[in-house]
Amino acid sequence: MVNALEVCAVSRGFRTRSGTVEALREVSFSAGGGEVVGLLGLNGAGKTTLIKVISTLLLPTSGSVRVAGIDVATGTRQVRRRLSVVFGGDHGLYGRLSGLDNARFFGTLSGLDRRRLERRAADVIAMVALEKVAERPVETYSRGMKQRLHLAIGLMAAPTLLMLDEPTVGLDPIEADRLRRVIGDLAAGSAGYRPCIVLTSHYLRDIEELAERVVILQEGRLTHDLPLKELLRRASAAAVVTVRVRGEEPVWPGDDGERSGVRLVDARPGEAGSWVARYEVPRWEPATLTELARRWPHGEIADVRVEPVGLERVFHDLSRGAGR
Ligand SMILES: Nc1ncnc2c1ncn2[C@@H]1O[C@H](COP(=O)(O)OP(=O)(O)O)[C@@H](O)[C@H]1O
Ligand SMILES: [Mg+2]
Repeated sequence: MVNALEVCAVSRGFRTRSGTVEALREVSFSAGGGEVVGLLGLNGAGKTTLIKVISTLLLPTSGSVRVAGIDVATGTRQVRRRLSVVFGGDHGLYGRLSGLDNARFFGTLSGLDRRRLERRAADVIAMVALEKVAERPVETYSRGMKQRLHLAIGLMAAPTLLMLDEPTVGLDPIEADRLRRVIGDLAAGSAGYRPCIVLTSHYLRDIEELAERVVILQEGRLTHDLPLKELLRRASAAAVVTVRVRGEEPVWPGDDGERSGVRLVDARPGEAGSWVARYEVPRWEPATLTELARRWPHGEIADVRVEPVGLERVFHDLSRGAGR
């Protein structure tokens, strides 16, 4: 079976007045149907350029891209029928038209016939949970609704490959959450099939919730291509544990993190003679609590809070060259 997406040694430079910017340098990876790949990188890493090259909006300087086995340079028109790209931010919708009419209009552009158009427009509107506002002019929509409409339009032609570039940018947390849920449903097959989804974001939350695989770009180079779980496992700490210690004059425990992997981050006096200390721990298991208690021989651990380490932290470590 052919892969939904194959990116082979893609480079792309931009000529500017001060010289050439190498936005992509020999980037290679591939992805299959049903896969959600998170494309992660700091601003300027090359994410949008890669999305544009894959979606035929830019030609690579060298290297090649295939979508459903078709080369983007020689089969541009066929490729365009098999992929959709949704950029974040508010643009390109007809404000006076309803959501449904926007979906119909863009569906016509992608070559759907009349009868299929009607059904499909209603279906995609439902997929993104906009049924209730489907007949309302788009200019009355919230930003989140507009973004979900963009996604619906992207789904009109049932793309093999769906690319989402910073889909939650500018959305409030509730809207961002709703959009993530819709994307999660699509990945799980709510459209009746499982498209390959490539998602870029510098909001790590998006990637962490949706992607099972992460490709990291740094200065145009692909530096990591890993399952999300593996990336999290490689993190220098798996959890941050905050303990509140009660007792008479707790003794400062010092730090022997070298041996146990339990590392003191900071400690400060809390209320009523207690201490609040934060630790990074490689694993959260019963032995970890024993280890923490050992560090406070004169105190009693009154309270424990465990927070898993997020991708934010992992990415930060990777960017500094740690955790490889
Ligand atoms: N049209 C362009 N002309 C010149 N430089 C560009 C152009 N588009 C992107 N770049 C440069 O390419 C690099 C990658 O940009 P981009 O792909 O937008 O990164 P990201 O989406 O990861 O933030 C940046 O250094 C950016 O300034
Ligand atoms: Mg970008």
